[in-house]
Amino acid sequence: MKFPNGPQIPAVLQMLRWVVNPISFMEDCAKSYGEIFSIRLDKNLPPIVIVSNPQAQQQILTNDTKELEAPGDLNQVFEPLLGKHSVITISGAEHQRQRQLLMPPFHGDRMRNYSQVITDVTQKVISQYPIGKSFNIRSATQAITLRVIMQAVFGLNEGTRAEKLQNFLRELLEKASSRLSVALVYFPALQRDFGPINFWGKQIRLQQEIDQLIYEEIRERREQPDSSRTDILSLLMAAKDEAGQSMTDKELRDELMTLLVAGHETTATALAWALYWIHKIPSVRQKLLQELDSLGDNPDPSTVFKLPYLNAVCSETLRIYPVAIFTFPRKVRTPISLGGYELEPGTVILGSIYLTHHQEDIYPEPKQFKPERFLERQFSAYEYLPFGGGARRCIGLAFAQLEMKLALAKILSSTELKLVNNGEVRPKRRGLVTGPDRPIEMVVMSQRQVKSPILQTSTV
Ligand code: HEM
Repeated sequence: MKFPNGPQIPAVLQMLRWVVNPISFMEDCAKSYGEIFSIRLDKNLPPIVIVSNPQAQQQILTNDTKELEAPGDLNQVFEPLLGKHSVITISGAEHQRQRQLLMPPFHGDRMRNYSQVITDVTQKVISQYPIGKSFNIRSATQAITLRVIMQAVFGLNEGTRAEKLQNFLRELLEKASSRLSVALVYFPALQRDFGPINFWGKQIRLQQEIDQLIYEEIRERREQPDSSRTDILSLLMAAKDEAGQSMTDKELRDELMTLLVAGHETTATALAWALYWIHKIPSVRQKLLQELDSLGDNPDPSTVFKLPYLNAVCSETLRIYPVAIFTFPRKVRTPISLGGYELEPGTVILGSIYLTHHQEDIYPEPKQFKPERFLERQFSAYEYLPFGGGARRCIGLAFAQLEMKLALAKILSSTELKLVNNGEVRPKRRGLVTGPDRPIEMVVMSQRQVKSPILQTSTV
């Protein structure tokens, strides 16, 4: 039986590379062993198979119920943060039910409700930075995405509870993104709580503060129902499954936490990368401004959403350094053939989004930021997959794309920014996703006026 090759160094050293710098580990493995290889992170467990070839990606992403089992318990690493009932940590019928309950707030027309919030919050945050003073752009984009998701989920961003929740979340995610925290997730024996000096214990206490605030909000909503509310929490509380059952408080807590975390960390990083590339390559900024300025002041969000070059810049941003470098893992249920290899039941497979996005035959000069590639050709759903695919495809895809485009449009047309240092920034592990390996410092040069309003349109 042929099994994919992989590095022969001890599992503990592979785990170390995985925790410290998964991208360089993956790139080295791909160079030596090709598009399908295996790694071993625990000497007592079978190796994990990593795939990057689009046909294999398609096979694992579209085969959830037959030969392959979708994440659920394989996503245990997310449990400390998101809980046991999060759509990310469950599988099978339970996952399908939760997904159906969660999807409606992220569909078509609902998106339009979020446009104004995104534009207003972006304007508010970016105008807080004084001319001439440098700041870390990721802090700004995180402030935007955290406020936007708070408004979308709870319908409010002011008041003591909202403020406390935002602060606790920011602190918790900052801690959760450190390497130490990731090591604790992968080596659970280190998670013992020794009191206030214990790192993991501190995270648990922060988590408890957040839970208390979320449960208070749920309780208040149950006591004083208001059918006119359109925020995600209200929609989720009103939603019923096929058996007429609504979500329990515990389920609601875990899904809210999932949306708050998945819904802002990822988009904040994507926006920071987009601003980095736009300002690093002057021709990109110039073309983008030309396109944006052609819409005049206060352009219609749906027109902004359809701008071809803006779309290409966002797509290329998520191609070159995808925030999630892997899709969720899948486990083999019945023996399968994958890319010429035979895989036995129990084998875990991970789709490497990063390696697929860096295949030279699909993306010539893959290390170069070239938005034009998205204007010149279309890529299949398994060649380009920053949001994963199949039954687990990102629920917030449309929300994230809308937020990226509207926030970028607002920032670029209202503010002239500059990178403080034009040196290279590379991706590194940031918790269970990735982010810039150093702060991307930017400075506001001046406020900007739209140059040539050709087309004036109304807001939604
Ligand atoms: C640029 C921003 C984002 C990126 C790159 C991203 C990426 C991903 C990826 C790769 C997956 C795994 C898909 C798979 O394994 O097939 C995922 C799942 C998920 N994402 Fe996102 N995401 C983003 C923004 C968001 C937003 C804004 C939300 C919600 C408001 C969200 C909520 C979720 C949820 C709930 C899942 C789990 C779906 C499931 O297990 O059924 N994400 N995302």
